[in-house]
Amino acid sequence: MKILLVCLGNICRSPTAHGVLEHRISQSGLRGKVTLDSAGTGGYHIGSSPDSRSIEAAMKRGYDLNPLRARQVAQQDFETFDYILAMDANNLKELRLRCPEEYQHKLQLFLEYSDSGETSVPDPYFGGADGFQHVLTLIEEACDGLVAHILAQHFAEGEVEPPGRSQ
Ligand code: 4NP
Repeated sequence: MKILLVCLGNICRSPTAHGVLEHRISQSGLRGKVTLDSAGTGGYHIGSSPDSRSIEAAMKRGYDLNPLRARQVAQQDFETFDYILAMDANNLKELRLRCPEEYQHKLQLFLEYSDSGETSVPDPYFGGADGFQHVLTLIEEACDGLVAHILAQHFAEGEVEPPGRSQ
């Protein structure tokens, strides 16, 4: 199972989702069963670390974004990944334009897995620190929903054991 998280720059929202989802995947016993990556529809920040404000906000909640580096969405990604999840409607629209017809079904809004009632994770890049905390809250909630969906849809009961509960 391969999941790609997509925003515009791949330095704020999608790396945050990458860090949070990696944590949730380990917690739920899916490590090695689910592969994760993130990318941007834009190419402005290729090779960059996540935004220092995203790194700091995530660190406060226990997620380490430091190892991540930005990359742009590649055509190969549409074939490689099973779930391609956009952080907002603009990025979903951009993905729909680039994605071959046969893979369009893989494209979704990330917040379809959230109960927040919101559809887009707002771009925090030009705003203040509050925006980065709001992004994290939305992302944490959607990651919980996404992990529950993956467990229910792709794994049989008893197939996945959360760490520490096997003895
Ligand atoms: P992201 O945020 O899409 O969440 O990584 C942005 C980062 C950079 C820019 C826009 C959004 N930018 O215009 O450079």
